[in-house]
Amino acid sequence: MHIFMVRKNVQKNGGKIMITFSNGHTFEYMTASGALGYDGKGWPWERPLDWLDFLEPELFTSVSKTLTFYPKKGNLRCYNPLRCIRLIHGGVVNAVGLSNPGIDWWCKTIGPSVNSAKIPLVVSLFGEPAELVEMVKMLECFDIVGIEINASCPNTQTDILHNNEKIIASCQAVKQASSLPILLKVSVSHDIETIVKETRNEVESYAINSVPWEILFPNQKSPLMHFGGGGVSGKAAQLTTWDLVKKLATLTAVPVIGPSIWEFDDIQKVRDLGAQAISFGSIFLRYPWRPTLFVRKEKK
Ligand SMILES: Cc1cc2nc3c(=O)[nH]c(=O)nc-3n(C[C@H](O)[C@H](O)[C@H](O)COP(=O)(O)O)c2cc1C
Repeated sequence: MHIFMVRKNVQKNGGKIMITFSNGHTFEYMTASGALGYDGKGWPWERPLDWLDFLEPELFTSVSKTLTFYPKKGNLRCYNPLRCIRLIHGGVVNAVGLSNPGIDWWCKTIGPSVNSAKIPLVVSLFGEPAELVEMVKMLECFDIVGIEINASCPNTQTDILHNNEKIIASCQAVKQASSLPILLKVSVSHDIETIVKETRNEVESYAINSVPWEILFPNQKSPLMHFGGGGVSGKAAQLTTWDLVKKLATLTAVPVIGPSIWEFDDIQKVRDLGAQAISFGSIFLRYPWRPTLFVRKEKK
């Protein structure tokens, strides 16, 4: 019965697969958390690309950069992003560590101007189950299309990568507190069988985070070793993140959002593995014009 209900949320639209949430929001393309700021419009340095028509945020459902209950310093310093973000061959390694100004700031500064009819926004949250509940309640009055529970940041000093109970409790608590659709952002480090089995009634889609450096390159020193190694994303992470797409698609009928797109052909490759929507993350750091170009090409 459950499988039947979720399968209805994956629709074909002119041959293209897409995801439909319980609130009716439908999407094929997403921007990953961290890619286009806190509002989905882009970071200040990305705005000129919008004015020049190389970036069209309206083509995507955007996920905000992750917010926590209290402001969090993390490792990012605005005068020096290179401190915790490095371009590597075919990708990016980052150890931002959830730097963010906190949910209060978002509600006062960003929330009132969100217009999901123009740029559909999912808000990404990280915290203990009780904090998540407080945060979703604060978000209720804003025009957002969903909540992403970030259960997979490789750059924080928490046990979230190895604590199934906390992840399951987070999904259950948020589901009880809010009617907003829940996306769960998982990691290749997770005990994915258990998480999927225990969250499938709460979660409306799964997204995939960057891969801890030591999993991809166990014999190589990370340029961000001083921050614990960081998370790798982009083409360099494809083998691992796509393997997880395939695994999730086999394990569950809940839709999976495919990451690590680098070239146009990657979109079809990740769909063939079972992804029902596409997400663009670190590609924005390397080739910020490509996601818009790719989507326009597909829509032609
Ligand atoms: C600079 C940077 C910042 C990121 N910040 C967040 C974040 O705040 N929350 C989150 O869940 N993921 C964050 N991510 C991870 C991305 O959202 C995405 O899951 C990851 O890059 C894998 O997708 P990709 O291979 O398509 O880039 C960040 C990634 C980068 C490169």
